[in-house]
Amino acid sequence: MEVANRIVAEILEGVKEKVQPGIETRELDELAEEMCRQRRVKPAFKGYRGYPRSICVSVNEEVVHGIPGPRSLKAGDVVSLDFGVKYEGFYGDAAITVGVGDVSEKARALIATTEESLYAGIAQVKAGQRLSDISHAVQTVVEGAGFGVIREFVGHGIGRSLHEDPQIPNFGPPGRGPTLQVGMTFAIEPMTSLGSWQVRILQDGWTAITQDGSCAAHFEHSVALTENGVLILSRL
Ligand code: MF3
Ligand code: CO
Repeated sequence: MEVANRIVAEILEGVKEKVQPGIETRELDELAEEMCRQRRVKPAFKGYRGYPRSICVSVNEEVVHGIPGPRSLKAGDVVSLDFGVKYEGFYGDAAITVGVGDVSEKARALIATTEESLYAGIAQVKAGQRLSDISHAVQTVVEGAGFGVIREFVGHGIGRSLHEDPQIPNFGPPGRGPTLQVGMTFAIEPMTSLGSWQVRILQDGWTAITQDGSCAAHFEHSVALTENGVLILSRL
């Protein structure tokens, strides 16, 4: 999983460098696929429940699962990149959100807060903590900054499957759910918006957008709870 997630991080870094005004989102997908071929890994999302591409590119009010296509990015757009691979039977999964050129101050704050909430969630990954301590830590940071936490999508266990139990909501009271133990591996993924937390799915059956059209952000790391504490597998 360390190797799978290092490769995920490298590919996200490569794709991030290409995010600039004028690039079409399908070009980002092509780059991710090319980088998978070079590294001899399988993109995890392509074909997953019929998802048609290798990366999810979600722009502005799109929260998650945006399908790459002929759309050109423009300055001011907020772009979430979500990507996973399978390597020797194990999965890696991570997401980042970046601005295209100059983005609004509000959008910059949303991006920074969402990343901060991910690290607050990760800081709860200690033996003896309860699963919902992660959820509560994320929610506290996001709502404390005045932003909304998406409730319809969750983080998850990860390992020999992309999505394993348990589900990890990004909200809720602390002290509930399974007790965290050494050896567990999770994908923690706060999804947030400038406005409300309600989402709807577009006609394509995948793209989730905020109901009020407000801008969204998404960060994700795969982490392992080891004898020596939490290891962030998908960070370079
Ligand atoms: N990273 C997402 C997740 O954690 C994306 C997977 S959905 C897919 O669940 F269909 F695109 F694969
Ligand atoms: Co995930």
